[in-house]
Amino acid sequence: MFSMYHRCEPPAGSRSWHSLTARNRNGYDALVAVTSSSVRISPTAHYTGYTWLTHGLSHPAFATPTGRFLYRALTPANKALAAAGQATLDGFLLARHHLIDALLRRAIESGQVSQVIEVACGLSPRGYRFARQYGDRVTYIEADLPAMAAKKRELLTRAGGGSTHHRVTEIDATADSGERSIDGLAASLDPTRGTAIVTEGLLNYFDPASVTGMWGRFARGLARFPHGLYLSDLHLGQDARPIERVFAGLLGVFVRGRIHFHYDDEPAAVRGLAEAGFARAALRAPEQHQDLTGPVDVTSARAVRIVEAWVK
Ligand SMILES: C[S@@+](CC[C@H](N)C(=O)[O-])C[C@H]1O[C@@H](n2cnc3c(N)ncnc32)[C@H](O)[C@@H]1O
Repeated sequence: MFSMYHRCEPPAGSRSWHSLTARNRNGYDALVAVTSSSVRISPTAHYTGYTWLTHGLSHPAFATPTGRFLYRALTPANKALAAAGQATLDGFLLARHHLIDALLRRAIESGQVSQVIEVACGLSPRGYRFARQYGDRVTYIEADLPAMAAKKRELLTRAGGGSTHHRVTEIDATADSGERSIDGLAASLDPTRGTAIVTEGLLNYFDPASVTGMWGRFARGLARFPHGLYLSDLHLGQDARPIERVFAGLLGVFVRGRIHFHYDDEPAAVRGLAEAGFARAALRAPEQHQDLTGPVDVTSARAVRIVEAWVK
């Protein structure tokens, strides 16, 4: 029933980064460099953007020179972690990305969801891939803070994407009301169609009170629709081993903010989602859903859970 492990097709007339020799990859990387100008984008958005491209999930338009630099700078650390049998950045990023894709696809293919709002889309290729796969059967809204949204719109055009059923808009997930709030955006969509909100790589940068506030806004926004689904990655305190806490500390220095583990375990997180207004919530373990996603690195996958929460 579920299509699996959807890989991004390379742009017409080009080949994927993976299919190139090391020498030609430099040329491919140069293409990435010239197609990206600089605006203020979070370093982690750059990094994940390049990760998606490296693993054949994205279009080169969504990868930036900064992402390439950061990705290469962290490659030795990733390799050392893998050699020591530890979770790697790539491993957990891919595990979360594939399971969010699979759960979203399941909701679409079951007929429950046909509108998607990807909040904090950054340089994620998901909207591009889903729009190509589902065409006008799904309305896909990518949303981010104004500077990132403007950049994403430009890059989407370069990738040959964007249409009436796939667009980029501005949002502030911390806003309670107004055009840039989740409520304002939800009010502009078709109230008769099931809707999903996706956040990926967002929650960890916000303190617990901010996350509870966001979840409340998402639940209220989704309550307008016949079906309302929320999907997100979440890192639990119980799964964060010392090395991951050290890494989170370093990442916090890098992004100039603290990295938060909001809940210790699944029951506490599910209670938090219920208090925010979700009627049914579960935390999915990527390592247990490889039937949906294809193979994941199990050690890395254990570092992340995926929230699947419905408002009704
Ligand atoms: C780590 S990046 C993740 C990007 C993308 N989701 C991915 O996984 O590749 C975090 C994103 O959150 C966005 N962001 C930060 N604060 C936000 C807010 N208050 N509202 C909406 N987006 C926000 C940033 O602009 C950035 O694009």
